[in-house]
Amino acid sequence: MDSMYKNLALNLVRVTESAALAAGRFLGKGLKEAGDGAAVDAMRNAFSTIDINGSIIIGEGEKDNAPMLYNGEKVGNGNGLDLDLAVDPVEGTNLLALGRPNAIAVVGACPAGNMYDPGPSYYMKKIVGPPEAAKVIDINAPVKDNLTNIAKAIGKSVEELVVFVLEKPRHDQLIADIRKTGACIQLHTDGDVAGSLMAVNPDSDVDVMMGTGGTPEGVISACAIRALGGQMFAHLDPQSEAERQAIQSYGTDLNEILTVETLITSDDAFFAATGISGGSFLSGVKYHSKGAISHSMILNGRTGTVRFIKSYHNRPLT
Ligand code: FBP
Repeated sequence: MDSMYKNLALNLVRVTESAALAAGRFLGKGLKEAGDGAAVDAMRNAFSTIDINGSIIIGEGEKDNAPMLYNGEKVGNGNGLDLDLAVDPVEGTNLLALGRPNAIAVVGACPAGNMYDPGPSYYMKKIVGPPEAAKVIDINAPVKDNLTNIAKAIGKSVEELVVFVLEKPRHDQLIADIRKTGACIQLHTDGDVAGSLMAVNPDSDVDVMMGTGGTPEGVISACAIRALGGQMFAHLDPQSEAERQAIQSYGTDLNEILTVETLITSDDAFFAATGISGGSFLSGVKYHSKGAISHSMILNGRTGTVRFIKSYHNRPLT
């Protein structure tokens, strides 16, 4: 059993590499659904070759009617570990279609029964910071207090802090509040999983990720943050009355403050991400005459090991 866990993240990277290699062909082609579909098919095929008995708890696509690895789908060859899985074959489908940076293929995993089920929730408010700031973040506190406390915890001035924010109309007030503190804002049209990973990665130039993004992306990020250290505080943040009512009918408490520990209730969190389009976080897929080169990050929460993997796929790719 231990050796199965030991190799799990290495198996998961085969899955994200496959999705990225398939999706990368669609970079900048304006074909959002086709790129996502190719990645979904490649990810599903790659899962079927690895020794896991996986259940998709977090699939993606319902929100946009995209092709999906649907919630409840069984993946893997059925042998080996019983796992809950959170997948996003293309995190940042618009980034892929428009040829923008930071589209990534991602998978998070933990032992079965340990992953938060978001039900019909699409949107989640999140604040993510590095390990040193884990104890000072308060999702209900004013922006100024959070940034002042995070800056102090990581030994920077507020003016030196870099905050990742999705560029959405719902964030106008958040952006104004951050501006008032003097902190720098990195505005991204999409991709708050990459934003969350950057916020907890000491090598990146982002210190904090704030704002409302997808709920599936929140749970996927929690797998990585659980494995890396760092903290995310979150709560569901419905963006329509219909979403609010669906969540309430599902029996979920809208006021519950979620943390990485409540989103993933096991220390055994595993995560893999492969770059599709090149970005500040992971380089993208580079195709060449003999195949392609991909760049991935894998995390083993059991051992705390973080690996960056450059793979040379020296075979004909379709
Ligand atoms: P997709 O992978 O579904 O394209 O999601 C991209 C994304 O930007 C996420 O990173 C983010 O969490 C979410 O969409 C925000 O949703 P919306 O664009 O509806 O505000």
